[in-house]
Amino acid sequence: MMRTSSLSLAALATAGALVFGCSSPSSTGSTSSESNTPVNGTCAGGSSQTTIVSKLAFARHKDGVTAGFDVDGFVSDGNQTPEQETKSCSQMDFEDADGTQGIDNQLARLMPLLDTVTSADVNLIIKGAIENGQLLTAITLSGIDNFENDPCVEVMFQPGLGSPTLGTDGELDPSQTFEVDTTGPTTHAVGAIKNGYLEIGPFELNLLVVVFAEKFNLHIERARVRAKLDPLERGRIVGSIGGGVKIQDLFDIIKEFDLGHTEKDAAENFIKGLGDLDYDTATKACTAMSVGVTLSGRRAFIVPAAERPDAGLDAGPTDAGASDAEADPDAPKSADETKWETIVKPIADRNCGTCHSVSAPGRIDLRKYSTWVANKSTIKQRVLVQQDMPPVTISFSAQDRSAIASWVGN
Ligand code: HEC
Repeated sequence: MMRTSSLSLAALATAGALVFGCSSPSSTGSTSSESNTPVNGTCAGGSSQTTIVSKLAFARHKDGVTAGFDVDGFVSDGNQTPEQETKSCSQMDFEDADGTQGIDNQLARLMPLLDTVTSADVNLIIKGAIENGQLLTAITLSGIDNFENDPCVEVMFQPGLGSPTLGTDGELDPSQTFEVDTTGPTTHAVGAIKNGYLEIGPFELNLLVVVFAEKFNLHIERARVRAKLDPLERGRIVGSIGGGVKIQDLFDIIKEFDLGHTEKDAAENFIKGLGDLDYDTATKACTAMSVGVTLSGRRAFIVPAAERPDAGLDAGPTDAGASDAEADPDAPKSADETKWETIVKPIADRNCGTCHSVSAPGRIDLRKYSTWVANKSTIKQRVLVQQDMPPVTISFSAQDRSAIASWVGN
């Protein structure tokens, strides 16, 4: 049992990493030029539009059905050839909601496990990261001549920067303006619109992903996108992204987490066991794992960094928190504030900031001392009494809880 739970924790960390996968050169040293896929043709003329990804979720599987794509080009259903069986490391395929066979999505196999180790859904962390601006992906289509059928549209994926606003329905408001994160990768591809669906790939996609405030470069090989363009709301898309992720890339992400030796080994073995792509004859192992993620997006506008009126100000969570404290640098800090900064802030940054770094409906900005003071009794109620905050306890320990208790008081 112990072993399973540490495996699960590590798996969760990995899943979290995947979810937030988008690319940043910072952790891998890659440059945006190497992440650019050459455009093999232009689709001149027509109109353009940008969509910001407003929802992203790891697909689950039920009764052999999940979201995703046939990444390896064959159906593993028990009747495949021995060669195919070897190539997919004996992993069985799913089918999708439309009945398409051969869907490769090993990430879906992690989901039930994730459900047992979190009191909330890992997809909630992703939601938080999008809402607080840590995980913004802009998809720009250009050369659109016809929104129903167009054999050639150019597609560009770019990481966005900004602080999205949420409507009362909890969805990102449409038509917001975001800045392009030029430190992240841009991916160019050519796609088509078929019967109202945008279809792209296979192509090599680089995404910038943020996990617990760490940026990661996530490369999705043989990526495919299929998404319905909403005929009633310009820029709105609903669909899925799939492809393969190198197992070594996942290991590199895991390294960044505070996992003990045993947990790390368990996580690596677990992930190795999920490999189903890129069979390596030397090691007799699959070196990549298939993933399938559902997404939806709303219309947005993007501008180069310099055009934003407040360009140069880093709107990132840490800096915003710091500038709050710097508002009056000469004001002496109270003993209570000093205690909060030493004991509570590090825990808050790691465990609450993902979801609580903007004030949204039902949400408070927990990077600030003032918010903690103003919400002391609610925080006490949710963290110490009900214990339903934080909803995902991957890096939240009993010690963290008692540290908060020591500041909140009885
Ligand atoms: C995975 C996202 C997530 C994380 C992480 C998280 N929260 Fe929350 N929190 C929410 C959401 C969503 C709500 C609003 C819905 C609700 O009240 O349950 C909320 C509400 C709250 C509220 C009630 C706010 C109000 O005005 O009623 C408090 C207090 C709170 N969280 C404290 C915390 C603390 C303290 C942490 C870290 C130790 C934390 N949360 C971590 C998602 C999160």
